[in-house]
Amino acid sequence: MEGTEATRHVATTEETTDERKHRLVEDSVRYVWRHGVSTDSTRRAQGPIAVRASGVQVEDIDGNVYLDALAGGSAAATLGHGREDVADRVASQIRTMQWVSLRTFINEPSIELAKRIAEVAPGDLTTSFFVCDGSEAVESATQLVKSYHRQRGNPGKTKFLYRKTGYHGTTLVGASASSSSEFRTWFAPLAPGFVELDACYTYRRPSGMTEEEYGEACAQAIEDEILRQGPETVAGILAEAIPAALVLTPPPNYLRRLREICDKYDILWIDDEVFIGVGRTGTYFGSEHYGVVPDVITVSKGITGGYVPLGAAIASQRVMDVLIADGGTGQAKVSGHTYSAHPVACAAGLAVLDAIRDEKLVDNVRDQGEWLLAQLRAWGRTNPHVGDVRGKGFLIGIELVRDKETREPFPAEWGVGGKVSKAGMRNLFMCRATGDVVTLFPALVATHDDVRAMFDGVTKAIEEALGELPE
Ligand SMILES: Cc1ncc(COP(=O)(O)O)c(C=O)c1O
Repeated sequence: MEGTEATRHVATTEETTDERKHRLVEDSVRYVWRHGVSTDSTRRAQGPIAVRASGVQVEDIDGNVYLDALAGGSAAATLGHGREDVADRVASQIRTMQWVSLRTFINEPSIELAKRIAEVAPGDLTTSFFVCDGSEAVESATQLVKSYHRQRGNPGKTKFLYRKTGYHGTTLVGASASSSSEFRTWFAPLAPGFVELDACYTYRRPSGMTEEEYGEACAQAIEDEILRQGPETVAGILAEAIPAALVLTPPPNYLRRLREICDKYDILWIDDEVFIGVGRTGTYFGSEHYGVVPDVITVSKGITGGYVPLGAAIASQRVMDVLIADGGTGQAKVSGHTYSAHPVACAAGLAVLDAIRDEKLVDNVRDQGEWLLAQLRAWGRTNPHVGDVRGKGFLIGIELVRDKETREPFPAEWGVGGKVSKAGMRNLFMCRATGDVVTLFPALVATHDDVRAMFDGVTKAIEEALGELPE
């Protein structure tokens, strides 16, 4: 990546790169509200200001090139950056017909994309309700579920169960299905009818319990909560097949039992795959690893590889048969958007699904992911603070602990995970941490060489950060 924006800019104006950087940082602080990052930190880090990206590399305004093990930072850039094939499909769709309302016309790209999704989705998940992002997909999924129960004559089934440490977005529904104390404080009052369950956190299970016993106990806790609430009041459960933030791969029996419990009480399972769906875990959908079929799957990020925003709630035929049982005359309600089934976003989605199929990217993720996980596990055994290395495909978590034997965590105020991601950025390597779980989620196109470099990048960042600790 040569000849950056910055150098071109310098050639045409008197502004130096440093002046431009300073101006952009100050304008950003004043005009763009950045979520999750303080203005102080934007100033301290002088952005960083990304100017271009290609493959698994992101270049900043100073010409520094970062190795991107985060698919752009939040897992969306699943095809890597700068794909001409996607750009061409998007440009061509804009030229042909950029948008018409779904209320007025149906459009071909959305029909084709929904058919392609149905082909790769598990079981009888057939029908996509397209929205613009992950939060909207979750919101729409809860509306579909409520409509399903109302249509079946059970309007009292309105509550949703969700699990601690999960994340389902930032609309009122997403925030209400989150144990984040920030959401609870700042956005109060949240929506009623959201009931919190414990996470299924295998590494932190009670000592002496096998994984299978723990999976069973977690599932039993769900059933107990349903009975406490009254099954006639519970509409659904919002649960990612593999919660991505802490990479909580569940025991194999857990989701099977969850499925049985949902069926027993006529409760629908919304498998929120906004983060992990569309190839990330080495299967198209995370739930496939456990041989279970959800009632609704939500996707976003990977469905368009971050090229254009799109999200979808994908409902099973069984659910749809209820929702449109009357031929649509009193069609069950789900709120639509101006940009529902946006033709340009759907064209991007088709280009992405073509690339995933033609380049066998799901296989690539499975093979390279297995290699990376094995390497990290071998390295982790030699490091006194690597408590657990877990994951599937290109979703990998490394849990750092103070004491490996007792699994005692580091004091939260040491901010060990944060130190790792900072060390990574210093070394031009992008990794993330949630608490002290360091996570990697590269683009599905990452090659063996890329993955080797990611192994070097993350182990170096962890070792550097551990070297900075008070002990
Ligand atoms: C599992 C899950 N659900 C929902 C969302 C919200 O998606 P968005 O940020 O596109 O609104 C996210 C975002 O990271 C997510 O990981």
